[in-house]
Amino acid sequence: MRAGGAKNAALPALAAALLSDAPLRLERVPRVRDVETMRRLLAHLGRPSDWRDGALELGAGGVASPDDAPYELVKTMRASVLVLGPLVARRGHGRVSLPGGCAIGVRPIDQHLAGLEALGAEVRLDHGYVDVAAPRLTGARFRFAMPTVTGTENLLMAAALARGTTVLDNCAREPEVVDLARLLTAMGARIEGAGGATITIEGVSSLGAARHAVIPDRIEGGTYLIGAALTRGDVLLDDCLPGDLAPLLGELERAGAEVAVEGRSVRVRRDGPLAPLEVATAPHPGFPTDLQAQLMTLLTQAEGVSTLHETVFENRFQHVAELARMGADIRVEGHVARIHGPAALAGAEVMATDLRASASLVLAGLAAEGETYVDRIYHLDRGYEAMEAKLVALGAAVERLAARAASAP
Ligand code: UD1
Repeated sequence: MRAGGAKNAALPALAAALLSDAPLRLERVPRVRDVETMRRLLAHLGRPSDWRDGALELGAGGVASPDDAPYELVKTMRASVLVLGPLVARRGHGRVSLPGGCAIGVRPIDQHLAGLEALGAEVRLDHGYVDVAAPRLTGARFRFAMPTVTGTENLLMAAALARGTTVLDNCAREPEVVDLARLLTAMGARIEGAGGATITIEGVSSLGAARHAVIPDRIEGGTYLIGAALTRGDVLLDDCLPGDLAPLLGELERAGAEVAVEGRSVRVRRDGPLAPLEVATAPHPGFPTDLQAQLMTLLTQAEGVSTLHETVFENRFQHVAELARMGADIRVEGHVARIHGPAALAGAEVMATDLRASASLVLAGLAAEGETYVDRIYHLDRGYEAMEAKLVALGAAVERLAARAASAP
């Protein structure tokens, strides 16, 4: 099978289109709901896009348009905040509704704002909006209090058009940050060090046209590889970047799965028993928080007690209660979950609470005896393209129900 393009790389790539009026062609963009939300936001901001031959194309822009991201869009997708840096850098002003809390905990954007202030922007909070203005940003040195993925991306885009040199310290090192730097470089930006903790950007006065293929989605691909280990299956993931998957592959091997990497493909199989693991999520190159829920489903089948320590987000254990309803034995204390395995999972009606939690429930359904109904799969559709079709191609019995039969309460 083949993973789609990375949602978390496609979103900043689309936001980067606001830095220029020149045409942009983005390949391997996944057709997921968050991408559609970002397209709507960009169209509102004067940068409409069209699907053409499986790629997203943005023509030449330049029409005067609003420079605000309204609440209606931001509330469904926090990553809308990614338009702030480009708007301020290019148009001198941006206004984005504050994202507020979300299902996986309080997620402030203070670091995005402190970084923009360091580049000379004036930040005001007004009626639930953050209003950022600067006639022209000026390069500066800024250190993030913690590595933030979208914060680093926002600042990279802002600094690309700032006057002079910007040095960003304690940057997020995720592959999606590196992918954005590649796109910006193709547009004419001067960036060094992406993928490391310190990134240096020499501002330029304008950016131009580019064509860019988004990296494969390590979280989507990783979800199916976990599925292979969970179901004693055998999955070959083609055309991926195995290096980006390394933190997961190491854990799958430790748990007893057979992992084979060859060029741009990874194969995961399991025949024998699963061993318990002790894993803590961490910024890249640590174990990704976006695979924590899926790994937890796997560990319900391990022979012994596993621990999962969530260090990146508060309140990212909402899948635990639903997994427990299927028969999992998981005890949560603060940021640590202890998973007592192996537990016989039984099909049940469960409810998705966020994007990755929904994936963990679908996986649990694959391992459970009987039928599982996962409700509220709009969460799933935010980040997984045609999951049911991909699972069916791998041999699973999965169906998308337009609406649950009348027996549902
Ligand atoms: C991105 C990903 C998301 C992933 C997360 C962590 C996108 C679109 N989303 O989210 O899927 O789960 O990285 O890998 O790429 N923080 C602050 N202040 C800030 C910014 C962040 O306190 O200004 C904190 C957050 O609350 C969190 C931590 O920093 O505890 C990391 O968050 P961050 O990397 O910013 O996550 P996102 O970029 O929102």
